Amino acid sequence: MYQSKIAGLGKYVPENVVTNDDLSKIMDTNDEWITERTGIKERRHIKKGDGNTTAVMGMKAAKIAIERAGISKDDIDLIVFATLSPDYYFPGCGVQVQEMLDIDTCPAIDVRNQCSGFVYALSIADQFIKTGMYKNVLVIGSENHSGGLDFTTRGRSVSVIFGDGAGAAVLTRSDHVSQGILSTHLHSEGKHAMELSLKGPSTMHWVPEIIKENPQGDDIPYYPYMNGQFVFKNAVQRFSEVINEGLEANGLEVKDIDMLIPHQANLRISQFIQKKFRLSDDQVYNNIQRYGNTTAASIPIALTEAWEEGKVKEEDLVVLAAFGSGFTWASAIIKW
Ligand code: UT7
Repeated sequence: MYQSKIAGLGKYVPENVVTNDDLSKIMDTNDEWITERTGIKERRHIKKGDGNTTAVMGMKAAKIAIERAGISKDDIDLIVFATLSPDYYFPGCGVQVQEMLDIDTCPAIDVRNQCSGFVYALSIADQFIKTGMYKNVLVIGSENHSGGLDFTTRGRSVSVIFGDGAGAAVLTRSDHVSQGILSTHLHSEGKHAMELSLKGPSTMHWVPEIIKENPQGDDIPYYPYMNGQFVFKNAVQRFSEVINEGLEANGLEVKDIDMLIPHQANLRISQFIQKKFRLSDDQVYNNIQRYGNTTAASIPIALTEAWEEGKVKEEDLVVLAAFGSGFTWASAIIKW
């Protein structure tokens, strides 16, 4: 068995900053409600004509991660791309990035696990490295939410939360058995699948049908639906469980955590977890205030920033934890 470690990290967010006040000009919302309920002050949105797409942002983050890993794009053996907002229904964003990076014919996998997507993708990469099949795996999480949200008052409980951006990591084979990705823990519970979902267009529900069923444009199934309070309750429970599961699997305790990077779903969720685990402000990284919830991109963006700010250092125990649509939830325990 081999060990895998993160050798390089990168992030990209579009330049266009959208504040809560900006949103209050186009729908019935306000800075006070958004800040109080979510902690979000601003987020980034792709601007028409800026050239960004989910795959393009992923490629930009990936280039930085590859450079920082000190490898060439030709050393990449596999791309794992996590997103819920791909450029196309098919093909996936992974093959688009492979082409954009001008990598010859490496395999590319797209992962559809929403907010847990990056940790799932990291776990897939880790297994391929641990078995010896691949040496360098490029893992990307990227989202273009602004392209598919309802920016009217009807959609406000969802659209104020989500933002665009991408993060990437290069996972590489390592000789140090006690360093790198110590373990990953993945879960799903499909019975709650529709509590946070986007129903169409789908193969069961194609565009002309949707328009025919909704001539007035109300109850539109091609915008995301979220049962916010139900998702919130499940999130705080599952986050706690999956963090504990990861620690226990490695004979570790909460006091061993140097940095917890939770999926940036809602600042209130992160604060709840922080309080429950009695972690200090220095032990939990949050940037949802600046980017909103970027789903599969949120953990790699946060991890990259924490590393850039010197908050993730050699020998640190870093815990990644995520919860989201599916429901899916996951954690990764990393010795840096
Ligand atoms: O990343 C995937 C995982 N996602 C999550 O973990 C999200 C979990 N859920 C949440 O974060 C919260 O449930 C939300 C932030 C989405 C919503 O907060 P909430 O405290 O659960 O609010 P609510 O949906 O119960 O709505 C409360 C009120 C409603 O008005 P009434 O019925 O009380 O008059 C809403 O219509 O707030 C209203 N409201 C808004 N008001 C101003 C909903 N959205 C907005 C808005 N601005 N943007």
